[in-house]
Amino acid sequence: MIGKLAFSPAWGAFLVLLFEVGSAAQGISSTPNSTTASIPVSVTETIPPPLTHYMGREIAQTMHYSGAPWLVREARDREEDCKTLLRVLDLKPGMTVCDLGCGNGFYTLRVAKAVGPGGKVYAVDIQPEMLDLLAERAEIENITHFVPILGTVVDPKVPENEFDLILLIDVYHEFSHPEHMLRAIRRSLKPNGRLAQVEFRAEDPNVPIKPEHKMSKEQILKELNPNGFKLVGQFDGLPWQHVMFFERDQGWKPAAGK
Ligand SMILES: C[S@@+](CC[C@H](N)C(=O)[O-])C[C@H]1O[C@@H](n2cnc3c(N)ncnc32)[C@H](O)[C@@H]1O
Repeated sequence: MIGKLAFSPAWGAFLVLLFEVGSAAQGISSTPNSTTASIPVSVTETIPPPLTHYMGREIAQTMHYSGAPWLVREARDREEDCKTLLRVLDLKPGMTVCDLGCGNGFYTLRVAKAVGPGGKVYAVDIQPEMLDLLAERAEIENITHFVPILGTVVDPKVPENEFDLILLIDVYHEFSHPEHMLRAIRRSLKPNGRLAQVEFRAEDPNVPIKPEHKMSKEQILKELNPNGFKLVGQFDGLPWQHVMFFERDQGWKPAAGK
């Protein structure tokens, strides 16, 4: 299974995996309905054990690909006002964008249309099935100017210094290795590139999403600031989510040993 590899603490903090991993033990759950399944994936790098908590927050289980229809449900546009989110992202033709944790590409295809054939969209996910579903949807819509990438829980495998914008839409709360991912995001942003962090509002009990799949602004700042990001803008006009824009904090230095 991806992202929640079942390491026993007795195995020590680090294992190098050079084989096909398939684990049904720890669930990748869908939103809003939980399911568990085995997800085979080739992992050829050193991956520390997944965290269960980070800075006082419980990390959500990865949404399983069997829940992908929920991401493209008919009501999504109305419930989440996706049109407004796209407007707020201020996408321009020619931009290079990363849809990180793209799922089945609900936003990937819309972003690809907005940046046009002169632009580029990288679509990254850790579940190959999600990328397959994205490919099917892209074929139907005849969209080819995107690059699907199978990342790992510690590395999105995207080029350095590449992106004008990285999107994390309903994704960050699932990162089992937040510091690894934030480090990689920092590296892959252009100097003035932005990270758009979109999360379901934990501050609002009326947002009908499981608590561990929501985040408060306070928690997001608590986690992103010490990882080298500074808040440069925000938007609070969506029905369920808040949008926070970050850039690399140029004065930031990693803590010793990181
Ligand atoms: C709730 S879905 C959101 C999908 C998409 N952003 C959307 O809004 O439709 C979260 C996705 O993030 C992916 N994901 C979780 N951790 C990831 C990681 N470390 N790197 C890349 N993708 C990840 C999951 O596999 C899942 O497809």
